[in-house]
Amino acid sequence: MTDNVFEKMAARYDSEERKNLANVIVQAVRKELSDSQSKSLLDYGSGTGLVSLNLTDLVESVLLVDSSKEMTEVAKGKIMRDAIANAEVLHSDFTDETPKIKADIIMMSLVLLHIPDTDKILQELFDILNEDGKLIIVDFDKKEEISHPKVHNGFVHDELKEKLSEVGFKSTEIKTFHHGENIFMRQDASMFIASSIK
Ligand SMILES: C[S@@+](CC[C@H](N)C(=O)[O-])C[C@H]1O[C@@H](n2cnc3c(N)ncnc32)[C@H](O)[C@@H]1O
Repeated sequence: MTDNVFEKMAARYDSEERKNLANVIVQAVRKELSDSQSKSLLDYGSGTGLVSLNLTDLVESVLLVDSSKEMTEVAKGKIMRDAIANAEVLHSDFTDETPKIKADIIMMSLVLLHIPDTDKILQELFDILNEDGKLIIVDFDKKEEISHPKVHNGFVHDELKEKLSEVGFKSTEIKTFHHGENIFMRQDASMFIASSIK
């Protein structure tokens, strides 16, 4: 739904601020990917690949999926420039139609807040995951002061945990891992990482 915004942002998405925040996320996600050398990773809402193109050494393959064609083009350019052999891009929006693909691990970094129907996307991602697969979500903790018609103002841990359980995940660990200044709509905020097992 935010396609137009992101289409226009793609070419200038990689600002110093976004790269710095992505590096913090990379460090948190890398801890979740130990013993994943034989696993396929799907990065849903990958953007320009600021996060998952820094994870390719830890997994067998990475598929970067985004509903913005321009974002996937920027990511593809980086994959070609750096000759990354185990990464590919896919232009797709699973809230419209989900392709018949499977993944061992799915990650979403700062994407869930942009998708209106949280239950639907969680269900689609659950279905794509292989048995015992893992869903890693990085997003903002609930920030009541923020109000935007198209963006969730963060998430409450227990409420998200409940949704993940209803979708079918058998367990979820969730924790706040970073507090930062001006990181959520120019306001100070904190980010959580949730790790759910199918
Ligand atoms: C804030 S950016 C995060 C990019 C990247 N994950 C990162 O952490 O650097 C959100 C991304 O989600 C994508 N997005 C938004 N809604 C989406 C949807 N329904 N399906 C797939 N991607 C979506 C946008 O195009 C954008 O690239």
